[in-house]
Amino acid sequence: MHRLRFTAALVVGFCVAACDTSVPADEPDQATEAVAAVAGLVDGPVEGLNEAAMQKWSRSCALCHIDGNGGAPRLGDGEAWQPRLAQGKDALLTHTIEGFNNMPPLGYCMSCEREDFSVLIDFMSGGMK
Ligand code: HEC
Repeated sequence: MHRLRFTAALVVGFCVAACDTSVPADEPDQATEAVAAVAGLVDGPVEGLNEAAMQKWSRSCALCHIDGNGGAPRLGDGEAWQPRLAQGKDALLTHTIEGFNNMPPLGYCMSCEREDFSVLIDFMSGGMK
């Protein structure tokens, strides 16, 4: 009897420890979540971005441009992008590279080239048209 109770206590103890770790340690990071969110949000445009560009986007622009953080024009929000596109691509590229109000210089993408920014801007602004 004594022994049984001891075993039961052990089992409970084991469960507490094991159940605590049942939350996966490798939870998806923000970037992965962003990609998942986009996959759910947009139907085709993600195909317009190749894998490398998608990676860059999900680690930088997506952090603000999915939720509109700080007033960022949201992905695929035509109304928000319209007046910005009206400035012309060069102005948008300059603002992206040099920063613009709450928009940080390079949009957090240190490895992006001008050409990458151009593709990413097209993706965010025109992807849903
Ligand atoms: C830290 C948040 C943040 C990140 C990261 C970010 N942006 Fe932005 N972005 C903003 C905000 C906020 C604005 C709106 C700025 C304003 O109009 O005052 C903005 C505006 C823009 C604009 C419009 C500029 C204009 O002239 O109207 C473009 C283009 C843009 N972002 C591109 C990008 C690209 C490309 C990336 C990724 C490489 C990126 N952003 C990453 C926050 C961010």
